[in-house]
Amino acid sequence: MLIGDVKIDPPLVLGPMAGMNSVPFRLLCRRAGAGLVCSEMVSATAIHYGSVKTEGLLETCPEERPLSIQVFGAEPAIVAAAAQHVEAAGADIVDLNMGCPVRKVLKAGAGSMLMKDPDLAVAIAAATVKAVRVPVTAKIRIGWSRQDASYVELSRRLVDVGVAAIALHARTAGQGYRGAADWGTIARLVEAVPVPVIGNGDVFTAEDAVRMMGETGCAAVMIARGALGNPFIFAQAADALAGRPPRAIPARWRLAAALWHVQASVLHHGEYLGVRRMRAMSCWYSRGLPGAAAFRRDACRAETLSDLAGCILALARNLPHNAAVEAPVSAPLEDTPFA
Ligand SMILES: Cc1cc2nc3c(=O)[nH]c(=O)nc-3n(C[C@H](O)[C@H](O)[C@H](O)COP(=O)(O)O)c2cc1C
Repeated sequence: MLIGDVKIDPPLVLGPMAGMNSVPFRLLCRRAGAGLVCSEMVSATAIHYGSVKTEGLLETCPEERPLSIQVFGAEPAIVAAAAQHVEAAGADIVDLNMGCPVRKVLKAGAGSMLMKDPDLAVAIAAATVKAVRVPVTAKIRIGWSRQDASYVELSRRLVDVGVAAIALHARTAGQGYRGAADWGTIARLVEAVPVPVIGNGDVFTAEDAVRMMGETGCAAVMIARGALGNPFIFAQAADALAGRPPRAIPARWRLAAALWHVQASVLHHGEYLGVRRMRAMSCWYSRGLPGAAAFRRDACRAETLSDLAGCILALARNLPHNAAVEAPVSAPLEDTPFA
């Protein structure tokens, strides 16, 4: 699958996740088999004001490429300038966030607020496409509400100004994460636009990925929550898409990934932030394993790398030797405020 001239192989995409998708997690997902990884969303305004914290979000490394960096904002000139900045930072694709329903983003007139103001959304996309050489994509939802399901009309207009692919999270902004994602809307969008459509919403297993592609005809499948604590979902989905039985993931591999992730996170973010970012993530790695409840209790209090690594090693000690425990399916995160 191609987005502009960027090859996405296999057609499996790590969805953008604020607070999760820094370099270590993106690398893990890429190594496991994601064809494209997305950054966390980055504020165009923060880039404009030279925020040091935001610069940190733009760190990247060659091994994770191709990389899509997602930008959110509400002013065409500022978003376009931010797109140039992230292109220079190493983005192979610039993604425009037009689906996020988080209050902070809505207050700025950005994210899914743009689905209420399609003229502004199109102006932002047009300015961004003109500003960068790399392909520009947009990530949208079905609409602000069911009554106002503007995804087809908006996507057509975005494509007219040069947007190279659309990722559709098949829920409305008002829905948050309630109800099942409506994959029928992905199928309708595939029919309606001449660019690749990336289907998104409720893919938690390799079989889900195959089913989404089959039912909707989407060019690629985007997985977000299903990869938390389980980057191997990309290896399994790649197997299933190639017609092979998805490989079994022994629990020890999953804990090895968790240990690597914690260490890389500490090296990347420093010990204070790195450990805090990894508390919840490491709990997802522990799902379904013997001793997970005790692990969660201890991991949530971990202060240092050695605390958290110790928790993971204790969990590993609990496993019967050579246990081929399958990676359990990640349950949806209830009430998550994100797009
Ligand atoms: C913790 C978290 C953070 C997220 N951050 C973003 C974000 O920065 N930008 C965005 O477009 N979507 C964001 N999302 C939404 C996901 O990219 C995705 O659209 C959504 O979770 C549905 O896909 P899934 O069912 O595979 O999780 C986030 C989701 C979660 C769970």
